[in-house]
Amino acid sequence: MGLRTNFHMRLLKAVTDMQAWSRKLRTENRGIGFVPTMGALHEGHLSLVRRSKDENDFTVVSIFVNPTQFGPNEDFKQYPRDLEGDLNKLSSHKIDAVFVPDSREMYPEGFSTSVHVGKLGEILCGSSRPGHFNGVATVVAKLFNIVMPDRAYFGQKDFQQTAVIRKLARDMNFGTDIIICPTVREADGLAMSSRNSYLNRDERKAAAVLYKALKHGEALIKSQGTSDASVIKNEMEQMLNSEPLATVDYVEIVDVGNPGEVKDIKTPLAICLAVKIGNTRLIDNVIVNY
Ligand code: PAJ
Repeated sequence: MGLRTNFHMRLLKAVTDMQAWSRKLRTENRGIGFVPTMGALHEGHLSLVRRSKDENDFTVVSIFVNPTQFGPNEDFKQYPRDLEGDLNKLSSHKIDAVFVPDSREMYPEGFSTSVHVGKLGEILCGSSRPGHFNGVATVVAKLFNIVMPDRAYFGQKDFQQTAVIRKLARDMNFGTDIIICPTVREADGLAMSSRNSYLNRDERKAAAVLYKALKHGEALIKSQGTSDASVIKNEMEQMLNSEPLATVDYVEIVDVGNPGEVKDIKTPLAICLAVKIGNTRLIDNVIVNY
């Protein structure tokens, strides 16, 4: 068994350096897997990293807290940043390259082009976060052009984001395979998220109600055959509202393949919710197939 000593993880900060390296790998016919992130890495991110390592010759992870996907009153400034911790985690996973541009590198003076995702960006989280998904699509389009990956990995945790990225790749002919990976959860069911670090002890306990409500909704459909979406939503909202620290933003049941169209309970469904626990807005979802 070859022990790989002197493992070297490339840290690339310039767009041109990242592109040059990817271009070189592509001429050598090496498959590139890509995991875009905003850092503060946890097991959810690392599950994508491991999947990419399994399926590709080389894996690139980007860390960039993208200002254009945050609204003016959102948490861009407070968003957790831990570059040293992140690099340690990635280096112990033997990642080939980490792309860490700064804001000026991604959005130099005079930058003005953006990707508009249309109606899909306005429903669910888009209605309380106007412009968010245009910001996500713009930065992911740029990252795809910079990294030129064969496959890119995203988490199911951000259901609407997965739909936006799939559509972006298809509409703009990126030729990158979009691979969606399951949500990684804490022992009590809370979906891992960099934003969980905002929660104090009481809030952290209360946050378990999100997954509890999702499982309840799933059970109503699967074992009790409830087919009226409004009954399911009402019961879930009641459960969420019984938690004093929780404020419901939305609970929605949508068609997985076409989240814009709310159909009756027939096709594979996503039950999606956004709930504030104290001041922290958390999202989660489950997919119901039957
Ligand atoms: P970020 O929130 O850092 O997440 C990076 C990737 O990790 C996303 O694809 C997200 O869905 C996935 N992820 C987060 N928590 C997860 C969990 N508990 N289980 C599985 N996967 C999880 O999403 C973004 O960054 C940004 O919007 C980005 C795509 C990088 C564009 O800026």
